[in-house]
Amino acid sequence: MTATPASRHFQSIDEVQSRFAERGYVADRMLATTMFLATSLGKPVFLEGEPGVGKTEIAKVMAEVLGAELIRLQCYEGLDSSAALYEWNYTRQMLELRLQEARSVQREQIGRNLFAEEFLLQRPLLKAIRSGSTVPPVLLIDEVDRSDEEFEAFLLEVLSDFQITIPEIGTLRAERPPLVVLTSNRTREVHDALKRRCLYYWIDYPSFEKEVKILRTRLPQVELRLAGQVCRFMELLRQQEFYKKPGIAETIDWARALLALGLTELDTEATNATLGCILKYKGDIEKLRQLGLDGIVTMALMPGHDPSAAPAAFG
Ligand SMILES: Nc1ncnc2c1ncn2[C@@H]1O[C@H](COP(=O)(O)OP(=O)(O)O)[C@@H](O)[C@H]1O
Ligand SMILES: [Mg+2]
Repeated sequence: MTATPASRHFQSIDEVQSRFAERGYVADRMLATTMFLATSLGKPVFLEGEPGVGKTEIAKVMAEVLGAELIRLQCYEGLDSSAALYEWNYTRQMLELRLQEARSVQREQIGRNLFAEEFLLQRPLLKAIRSGSTVPPVLLIDEVDRSDEEFEAFLLEVLSDFQITIPEIGTLRAERPPLVVLTSNRTREVHDALKRRCLYYWIDYPSFEKEVKILRTRLPQVELRLAGQVCRFMELLRQQEFYKKPGIAETIDWARALLALGLTELDTEATNATLGCILKYKGDIEKLRQLGLDGIVTMALMPGHDPSAAPAAFG
């Protein structure tokens, strides 16, 4: 994409990491590098990964860090260009028409100016293009894999020059292109053409160390030892085939529930009672019980994974 770089750059990759950390987001070096390049090259970022690994959150944190407005386009099946771009505000147009009639505007003048920009309902893409703010917005195009291929082709066009043509008005161009973050949960492959124009980054489930760090960042009340047990349990769980594996949000929710129950150490009974925080499908819960919850809890409690024994590695 030929867009000019976003106006404000980070000085370094370290700065990206530390400013994300200030806002509670634990960013790997590689992710921080990708975000650094996105702002300095003015390229969209394409983040792909399983649900719950922190893709959407990156865009939110990025907007906060840059002091930019976050504009979100949530994709879904059947999303079409008008819902993403603009629609005419018929109510306002009708009202204007009535007013003109009441004002006894000359017959041939009536309705002349009804297709001006003020009668547009801006949807996210147009909003991002027309943002008058001095700091370009962050445009989050979330879960693009849910939209149809046709919509993808349309996106490609919009993202390649940040301009759109409205037949009644003409071509509208972004003065300052937004910083674009696309995400995909990979329920289907997104077309190469779209990915090729972006900085691509695959976000995996976090390592044990990273997840402990995230959990303690988001929930400082949780003791390092319990955090280790929770994250180890999650790590073991993700090695199993589930219909929907738990993401980081589930880890945080679960730890919060355990704290609310007054737990300082994981046990089978409490885990069993709180499984609904982790798995959201009846079949998955049944499968876990079949696998033997007790065994997994026992494994999660084994020494060797206790971060409180070597706290320095867990920030
Ligand atoms: N690296 C991280 N640092 C801090 N919190 C994170 C991180 N990754 C995920 N989270 C937490 O997990 C939650 C789910 O992340 P989200 O961005 O919604 O996932 P996705 O969009 O990939 O499905 C977020 O609300 C956030 O609290
Ligand atoms: Mg998301």
